[in-house]
Amino acid sequence: MVRRLLQDMKDRFETLRTPFYYYDADLLADTLAAIKCETEKHESWHLHYAVKACTNPKVLRKISEAGFGADCVSGGEIKVCMENGFPASEIVFAGVGKADWEIELALEAGIQCFNVESVPELEVIAEIAGRMNKVANVSFRINPDVGAHTHAGITTGLAENKFGIAKEDMIRVIRVCQGLSSVRFVGLHFHIGSQILKMDDFEALCCRINELQDQLEAAGISDVANINVGGGLGIDYENPDAHPVPDFKAYFETYANHLKLRSGQHLHFELGRAVVGQCASLITRCLYVKQTQTKQFAIVDAGMTELLRPALYGAKHLIQNLSSQSSEQMYDVVGPICESSDVFAKDYMLPETKRGDMLAIRSAGAYGETMASQYNCRALPLAYTSDELKQL
Ligand code: LLP
Repeated sequence: MVRRLLQDMKDRFETLRTPFYYYDADLLADTLAAIKCETEKHESWHLHYAVKACTNPKVLRKISEAGFGADCVSGGEIKVCMENGFPASEIVFAGVGKADWEIELALEAGIQCFNVESVPELEVIAEIAGRMNKVANVSFRINPDVGAHTHAGITTGLAENKFGIAKEDMIRVIRVCQGLSSVRFVGLHFHIGSQILKMDDFEALCCRINELQDQLEAAGISDVANINVGGGLGIDYENPDAHPVPDFKAYFETYANHLKLRSGQHLHFELGRAVVGQCASLITRCLYVKQTQTKQFAIVDAGMTELLRPALYGAKHLIQNLSSQSSEQMYDVVGPICESSDVFAKDYMLPETKRGDMLAIRSAGAYGETMASQYNCRALPLAYTSDELKQL
C-alpha cells in the first residue's frame, strides 16, 4: 500500500528539489495507534520514544501529541523535545558521557529521571543537584550481558560494550546512591541493542532482569519503582510493504509473558526505530548512469551525507525507481560524495534507470535524517510530511 502511495506522489515529488526525506504521516499515525493498542492494556506501562531515531520537529510533534514520553541522550535532544510538546516529566535522560551543562539543564527542566551509567557520573549528578538544591531521580543502566542477534556496531548489552554498569556491581552502586542525599534511586535501566527481530533476545533480557530482581530482594533492596527495558525492536528493511507496522503485539507480549514485575512497579520502553523507521523514504534523483567495463553505476543526488547507514553499517535499504517500469538491469547505486563507501547498494536490480528518474530509498525514517552531515559542504537534507505535500 505504501508503494502505491509513493508512486502516487511521484508527480508531486517532481516539483521538489531533491534529495529530501518524505515522511508518511498516515503510516506514523497507524504505527503510534498500534503501539498504544498494545501498551494501553497495562496501566503501569510507559513508552518513551527514543528521539535519537528521528528528531524532525513535525514527527516529534505527532509523537508527543499521541501521548508518548521521550528518551533523550543529550541536552540538545531534551531541548528539542520540550520545544515539541514532550513534558519534561516524561523525559528520561541516558548516555555514557553527560556533560555538566546537560545535567544542569535536565535538573532545571525537571526531567523524570537520569539513566546513570557509572559511579563517577552518579557523583557528579549528586554534586550538581546538591548545589542546585534539587534531588535527582536516578535509574542505573545495568549491562545485562545478553547478546542480541544484530549488527556488531549496534549491540550494546554485552559485557565488552562501553554501556552501563556491570551486573556484578549493581548492588554496590545502589548502596552508594542510597548514601547520597541529593539523588534518589528509582529503578533499573537496560538496553541490549537495536534492529532485533528475534523475540528470544528480549525474552533473555526478561530472564536476566528477573534474576537481578531476585538478587536485589535477597539483599533487602525493595524500592525498585521502575524497570526500563530500553528499545531495540527491528523493522523489515527487505520488504517494508509487507510489514509497514512492526510486530508490536509479539514484542510487548514477550514482556507481558516473561518479565516478572514486582507489585507497583512501572515498566518503561524506549523504542526508536520501530516507531519511525518505516515512515520515511529518502527521495533522490538519478543524476547519471555511468557504464564502466565491469559495472553500471546509477549515480544519485543523495549520498552518505543524507543517509549514512549503508556506508557505516553495510545496512541494506530497499530502493525503488518510481519513474520507470522498464525491464530490470543491474546497478551499483551510489551517491556523489568523495568517499568509496558512498554506496547505497551493489549489484542491485532496478528497472532501467535514466537521468532524472526519481528513486525512493525506503525505511529511512530511523537514523536517517538525524545522522545526516554537512560533509563536502552539503546542506542538511530537506524534509516534508505527506500532510504538508497534500496541502501545498
Ligand atoms: N535506548 C537506548 C539506551 C539506546 O541506546 C537506543 C538506541 C534506544 C533506546 C533505541 O533503540 P531502537 O528502538 O531504535 O533500536 N544508528 C544505528 C542505531 C543506533 C541505536 C542506538 N541506541 C542504526 O542506524 O542502525
